[in-house]
Amino acid sequence: MSKFYITTPIYYVNAKPHLGGAYTTLAADVLARWSRMKEKKTFFLTGTDEHGEKIAQTARENNLNPKEFCDQNAGKYETVWDTLQISYDKFVRTTDSDHEKLVSRILDKLKEKGLIYQGEYQGLYCIDCERYYTVKELDKGKCPMHQKQTVSISEKCYFFKLSSFQDTLIDLIKKDQWLIGPIERKNEVLGFLTTEKLEDLAISREKVEWGIPLSWDKNQTIYVWIDALINYFSGIGWDGESKLPDFWPPDIQLIGKDILRFHAVIWPAILLSLDVPLPKKLFAHGFFTIGGQKMSKSLGNILDPEELAIVFGSDALRWLILSAYPFGQDGDISESKFYDKYQTDLSHGLGNLLSRILSLVSKDTQNKEYFFEENNDGFQEKIKEIWEKYEKALEELRFETAILNINELVRFCDKYIDLKKPWEIIKSNNKGESRKLLFNLLESERHLAWLTQSFMPEKSDQIFKSLGLLGKEKKKTLKRGQEWGNIKFKNISENEQLFPQL
Ligand code: MSP
Repeated sequence: MSKFYITTPIYYVNAKPHLGGAYTTLAADVLARWSRMKEKKTFFLTGTDEHGEKIAQTARENNLNPKEFCDQNAGKYETVWDTLQISYDKFVRTTDSDHEKLVSRILDKLKEKGLIYQGEYQGLYCIDCERYYTVKELDKGKCPMHQKQTVSISEKCYFFKLSSFQDTLIDLIKKDQWLIGPIERKNEVLGFLTTEKLEDLAISREKVEWGIPLSWDKNQTIYVWIDALINYFSGIGWDGESKLPDFWPPDIQLIGKDILRFHAVIWPAILLSLDVPLPKKLFAHGFFTIGGQKMSKSLGNILDPEELAIVFGSDALRWLILSAYPFGQDGDISESKFYDKYQTDLSHGLGNLLSRILSLVSKDTQNKEYFFEENNDGFQEKIKEIWEKYEKALEELRFETAILNINELVRFCDKYIDLKKPWEIIKSNNKGESRKLLFNLLESERHLAWLTQSFMPEKSDQIFKSLGLLGKEKKKTLKRGQEWGNIKFKNISENEQLFPQL
């Protein structure tokens, strides 16, 4: 059985999950569900990033000690992920003791290999980003991400010899031995690596108490980004000494484009230092904007995934987020755009089609069962084509295209109903013809349930249930589910409203 290990970034625990973080996690969830459907041994990792100055500062503002603060907030993430039906296999927290031990051990290893040396850092730091900046990188003197003043740091610290990996990284990326997608992001990393000299990286802080101490110098805590990246090991239970777990390496790591350099430069350099295989693919998605503006607390335009789940329902929200725009690009979203899409795709599209079909079946008193007959009016071909396009889209992380394919099948069925007018055939008591028409439609609905399973697990089950097939279909393999015609429909519900009017 092949395996599939997928990771999301671990989220800073100081804030409530906003839609940006939910985007990465939802995309990962769809891929994890899809991989389980394909019978791959799947491990889906997510979690929270809990050390560092930013967290300690927010804890102080809340009059809590950092650990108490983290405990309270990590739970909020788990709750939101439950609301959004995120099927993670492990929720890692960087304050877990096995994670802390591993981080410390890995730093020891890097030191033993002669890749760490003592020095002094003098420069700028953005606490919100938890990263160092050069003057050149600032935007009018401020951090380009948060538009906030950076702080000037001058302290003793330890450095990791990141600069010695520059040529190897360029080579690996150019030869696609370290896959970065989409192409724009790959070019961005290559552009940066080939034009700028890679500096060694300060991997410890003297004045930050809330962190994992270095084993050989307890006055120093490990830089939060190094700590955080190691979650991809601790999450699958590696202790740093034994053989790497079978899930290693990650098959895909999903991130947002703002944290590309950490994952495309620092992370592979650590892995190369440790002599472990690199992840197969890193993919950085784009950013949501609202009315053309960045989603941010200071602008007050943050969309809350929990509130949206109340408005649209969790399944519909999953669909709306992933169909909003192509995954690798930036895109504008808004509640009103979600509303329009809910109407067209779901309420008037998928949902209405199911009601139409069930209502036709309830009018057909002649047939008690519907089963395959040779003539399928081109449905078998169409469904085969839809599955091929859908699978390709998911392989290429084009979630919005996969969803367009589902919509295409809905339209195909709607057109068939308009053209064939099954209600007239039913009225004329043409038993054989109505059985054929309704079989084609019911069988397409069954395929729609399979196609929507990774995106909208509950609605997909609801469709199976209306077709009287929930138990049976859930036991099938995807391959069997994708066959056309190998099924008998009976005990069909009279009516079902999948997506009520808002
Ligand atoms: N803690 C680090 C990640 C460490 S991983 C070893 C971090 N956390 S974060 O909470 O700030 O961001 C988590 C994810 O949310 C990132 O992938 C980030 O790109 C994504 N997003 C944050 N805002 C976003 C939008 N407005 N739109 C889309 N995604 C965005 O970074």
